[in-house]
Amino acid sequence: MSVRRLAAAEVQPESFAFSKESEKKITFWMNKYPEDRKASAVIPLLWLAQKQEGWVSEPALREIAARCEMPYIRVYEVATFYTMFNLEPVGEHLIQVCGTTPCWLRGSDDLKAVCEKRIGKKGRGNVSADGKFSWEEVECLGACSNAPMVQIANKDGDFYYEDLTGAALEQILDDLAAGKPVEMGPVTGRKCSEPTEADVAVLADAELYDGSRAKPMPYLPNTPEAKAAEEGEDPAPVKKGRPARKPADADEAGGAVKSAPRKTAKAAPKAAAKPAAKKTPAKKPAAKKPATKKDAE
Ligand code: FES
Repeated sequence: MSVRRLAAAEVQPESFAFSKESEKKITFWMNKYPEDRKASAVIPLLWLAQKQEGWVSEPALREIAARCEMPYIRVYEVATFYTMFNLEPVGEHLIQVCGTTPCWLRGSDDLKAVCEKRIGKKGRGNVSADGKFSWEEVECLGACSNAPMVQIANKDGDFYYEDLTGAALEQILDDLAAGKPVEMGPVTGRKCSEPTEADVAVLADAELYDGSRAKPMPYLPNTPEAKAAEEGEDPAPVKKGRPARKPADADEAGGAVKSAPRKTAKAAPKAAAKPAAKKTPAKKPAAKKPATKKDAE
């Protein structure tokens, strides 16, 4: 992760104040935590400051430190750690283009080319001439099945635009620049991540269910019988089509072992367990008493 620092001093504003709208939300967040734990609200307050101004300035960090009753350096640490916070002014709409493998395979290079052409060099601080846009490349945003996609962050929120093409992204940028509402989600009209082809049919072949594909398996794979059959030899016959079994405890002649050993194995532990439990307590007192008397004499 690259080092994240606050914007240069000449970019920083003189002061910062939360708007009335933000104040209502601050009250909501502050009320979620005990009086002596105001610092717990630091991330919601940073987020509110960013939604209000588009980024978090140093005066904003100081105001938040005062509200949360925590040292300024602690707020600074949080703001510089989380990449969701913009430490410098960005365009009105911050376009985040996913460049990770699924999006890349589905054409994210086209989206990056559109951003370069329309906005300019990538990087949050590189704002378009009209102040409307800035863009950056990010890692997977978690909408891979609808690749390629972008997230567009602005005062209204952070929204995903999916199944994009270069032309579709250009249209979105046109609409945003004109102040028109843009519908979020897949631009193809598909719902969520549903299959994109109308005629997709999975497991619809009737043969899968009528038993015609089931074939008897005369031998277990990788057994001597199966190898003999593969090599054209005549393996030992198997009765009624059942696979030949050679349990680990079968005799050397290869004969099947009947169920007798299983019964023995089950019976043995029971027979051994019962007497052991009864005899042990009876023996102990008997052995101790005479020994003690003799020793005393
Ligand atoms: S790879 Fe782009 S959203 Fe996951």
